[in-house]
Amino acid sequence: MCGIIGIVGTSSVQDRLIESLKRLEYRGYDSAGIAGFGPDGIERRRAAGKLRNLEEVLAGDPLTASVGIGHTRWATHGPPTVGNAHPHQAGRVTLVHNGIIENFAELKAELKAEGRVFSTDTDTEVVAQLLDRELASKAPLEAFKATLDQVRGAFALVVMIEGETNLLLGAREGPPLIVGYGDGEMFLGSDALAVGPFTNRVAYLEDGDYVAIDHNGARVFEKSGRPVDRPVQVVPQSPALMEKGNYRHFMEKEIHDQPEGCQRTIAAYVDALGGLTAVPGGVDFAALNRIQIVGCGTAYLAGLIGKYLIEPLADLPVDVEVASEFRYRQPALRPDCLVVAISQSGETADTLAALRYCQARGMKSAAVVNAVGSTMAREVDVVWPIHCGPEIGVASTKAFTAQVSVLTAIAVAAARARGRIDEAEERRLVAVLMEAPRLIAESINLEEAVKSIALEVSRARDVLFLGRGPMYPLALEGALKLKEISYIHAEGYAAGELKHGPIALVDEHTPIVILAPFDSYFEKSASNMSEVMARGGQVVFITDPEGERHAPAGARVVVTAPRCDPLIAPLVMAAPIQLLAYYVAVQKGADVDQPRNLAKSVTVE
Ligand code: AGP
Repeated sequence: MCGIIGIVGTSSVQDRLIESLKRLEYRGYDSAGIAGFGPDGIERRRAAGKLRNLEEVLAGDPLTASVGIGHTRWATHGPPTVGNAHPHQAGRVTLVHNGIIENFAELKAELKAEGRVFSTDTDTEVVAQLLDRELASKAPLEAFKATLDQVRGAFALVVMIEGETNLLLGAREGPPLIVGYGDGEMFLGSDALAVGPFTNRVAYLEDGDYVAIDHNGARVFEKSGRPVDRPVQVVPQSPALMEKGNYRHFMEKEIHDQPEGCQRTIAAYVDALGGLTAVPGGVDFAALNRIQIVGCGTAYLAGLIGKYLIEPLADLPVDVEVASEFRYRQPALRPDCLVVAISQSGETADTLAALRYCQARGMKSAAVVNAVGSTMAREVDVVWPIHCGPEIGVASTKAFTAQVSVLTAIAVAAARARGRIDEAEERRLVAVLMEAPRLIAESINLEEAVKSIALEVSRARDVLFLGRGPMYPLALEGALKLKEISYIHAEGYAAGELKHGPIALVDEHTPIVILAPFDSYFEKSASNMSEVMARGGQVVFITDPEGERHAPAGARVVVTAPRCDPLIAPLVMAAPIQLLAYYVAVQKGADVDQPRNLAKSVTVE
């Protein structure tokens, strides 16, 4: 989950490398560094911590290179020190790496036995040492291929070689790497966002590819060494979506972007004029016996909400599993099942591996993704894009509700296709779904009520989130949001499970967030609320106007979301839990957009 960039430029690259790394910081931000061909050879500048620390180093000691590389790190091997910051060097080689070299220990032992001296704890340095050794007897491209043939694992690499001042080498095995085509300049980067300020013409490297770029263009090769052509695509760049505007954080902006993101997404899945669903991809839901959803983190929880919507409406079995567990338990799969990968980035290693596991067993595949140029989007049979624009905040918000929007539309379409609802009911449900963006906007306006409780919650040691039905996965999401940006321990629970253990946690210092619209589960949730209040629990009751009227007295605060049809309750009730996490994190002075230890796209297992 690091960000890498390389530029073969015709003018100074220092500022452009930094600009690109700023766009890549969401992928990891433990440390950063750049390197370039200076007048007396390759020069390197590195700093631990945030990118601004590297900028301070450069202010006093700038690079003058017109060809260079850069890296922002999420530590896998070795602490986030300046010594472990990329770029790494060995002899003639300077390189940056995203991923994990799985056989680095045996290679390191082999190289050390030959007398090579290592200066870092990282797996990355092994690649630099290996390539430097190969360069003693081979030309750059051959030496690079010989190096790649010896390493195992997941890697995206960009490499400079002393003396080869017009050349950058790149390779991809797992984590993404793209080639950017400029006017007389060439780029390598982790994704299209990284090269967005310089070009919108990109080619996506496939696993096993390696590439040489210079001022004349790119030469791409397959793992075998055979030259291959990767088509150049024009990708839409929306710089405006990359800016925070007048918000303090990307997360705050992205919470407020949700009505528009969901509106654009829903519009791609319904025929607004005809009033019926129009799910792209041509999946015959009537022919399916099961849907298997795989995902991680928030994407997994969106899938869990999908299960609660699709099964009762369409009478179609839906299994949802965290991708990191799925393939290792050797699930019993059948080809008449559709596997659906849910992933904002489309690059999450565990989800990608689970998807490929299913594809290898003959299952048709679909992906609900935000990055339409991503690996998942390019490998599945059917792409179900979300249209919420680039999500920069590490804590997923607008992508989550856009993913749920897609799954809601699929639930209605599948119900119609399987004869569970007639056209009139489909029209009614489509109309309900099209109301969601307006109601989400109303829900976001509840921020004052949420802000009022943030100070108290920010002092808690533990926070419980409870929900029933589709509110249960939303409770899990609320707990994930809070813990990942405020670092407060939080757990989501099925409200019915409270008495089977978690209620032991409840005392007068424990905030309990209960998600309970006035639906068929309300009475039971209200009972849970009384049970925790009887033990001093401080209840944050998130409901709707009817629920507010029927709620037991004594809640610490009641947040009243707009009334809505149960079909879109997960969409309408999401904003209060997102805002709660946000304001608690702000109250704690946490790094909201770049929480410690996290990265936006987890491209290693
Ligand atoms: C979400 O807030 C988290 N940052 C994280 O759980 C994320 O949802 C997960 O890593 C999956 O990412 P993806 O959607 O890009 O696959």
